[in-house]
Amino acid sequence: MKAKIYKKVCEFDGEPKDSDFSLIEEELPSLKEGEFLCAGEWFSVDPYMRVYSQWSPVGETVIGSQLAKVIESKNEVYKEGMYVVGYFGWRTHTICDGKTELTPGFGQPLIVQPLESLPMSLYLGALGMPGNTAYFGFLEICQPKAGETVVVTGAAGAVGSLVGQIAHIKGCKVIGFAGTDEKVDWLKKDLHFDHAYNYKDVGVDQALKEAAPDGVDCYFDNVGGEMSSKILRHMNSRGRISVCGSISSYNASKNEEPKASLVQLPLISKELKMEGFMVMRWLDRWEEGVKQHLNWINEGKLKYKETITEGFENMPKAFKEMLKGKNVGKAVVKA
Ligand SMILES: NC(=O)c1ccc[n+]([C@@H]2O[C@H](COP(=O)([O-])OP(=O)(O)OC[C@H]3O[C@@H](n4cnc5c(N)ncnc54)[C@H](OP(=O)(O)O)[C@@H]3O)[C@@H](O)[C@H]2O)c1
Repeated sequence: MKAKIYKKVCEFDGEPKDSDFSLIEEELPSLKEGEFLCAGEWFSVDPYMRVYSQWSPVGETVIGSQLAKVIESKNEVYKEGMYVVGYFGWRTHTICDGKTELTPGFGQPLIVQPLESLPMSLYLGALGMPGNTAYFGFLEICQPKAGETVVVTGAAGAVGSLVGQIAHIKGCKVIGFAGTDEKVDWLKKDLHFDHAYNYKDVGVDQALKEAAPDGVDCYFDNVGGEMSSKILRHMNSRGRISVCGSISSYNASKNEEPKASLVQLPLISKELKMEGFMVMRWLDRWEEGVKQHLNWINEGKLKYKETITEGFENMPKAFKEMLKGKNVGKAVVKA
């Protein structure tokens, strides 16, 4: 059995380029006792890959998660035919033993159940890491109350589109910022956002004067930078800010100082609470978020969208396009 693997051949500098990756083939050995072989069916491309790659050495497999099927097994827990979500990196086939972490700190492959009428790729989106990022990162840190005003940036992406809908379910007024008119239409027409703006056309101040004349209580920040500086100035006293990501700075080139938000003055004068988080904080409650999202999806309360790129060979293309905002909802690659 041969595995196709994407290796990182140099450090990213600015936007990732095709030449930053090389696709190789590796002959896999026969399974030893305790091992199992997984075949990737769906692959995730996420913004964190751009950030984490800075810390992995050149020559390493590109970091990433996948939904894979166990196609051969000499392991008693991970049996043939089961599905797992594993942090195996960008590779089509992987041998695991269920003990060694293939990406240190990211745990063992998680066994997931087949979904009756929903795509299994949801385990990389609304029923996986981005889903729990939205669920716990918003509810635990922003502690939203019915009637409050919530702002979400990166609002039409994997995490942001769920945060806005959870806010709506909790009875909040929801305002989203996203990068195209198509995304804005989706947020307003399908996802029940009260207001949505294309931040490339409408300034934050103008938008929030119109949509949040009484101020903002909760801000779920996916982008950082200048947009966040401006949103912070519209916060109400004792507002809460969940700092999830800062994608506006991820593609900064090596010699460029990444864009930072100016936080001190609004934080002090409005007595705001701002907290960053890593979703793995809630690993012990993982199932709670997955089950809640599955229920909401089945009840028609939570909608999802996927932007699917066909073919493992197109992983770099899907990754680059996601960073440029070509995805609506979760960006995934079908093997
Ligand atoms: N803390 C955690 O544990 C955790 C876990 C998961 C994700 N995250 C973070 O959450 C954020 C969203 O992740 P995701 O997986 O849901 O990705 P995503 O939103 O599905 O995709 C990334 C989106 O970022 C937007 N973007 C790109 N450059 C931008 C810029 N300069 N300014 C504003 N927006 C820009 C694009 O949408 P537009 O068209 O709207 O520009 C693009 O579609 C990221 O910052 C990520 O690092 C954090």
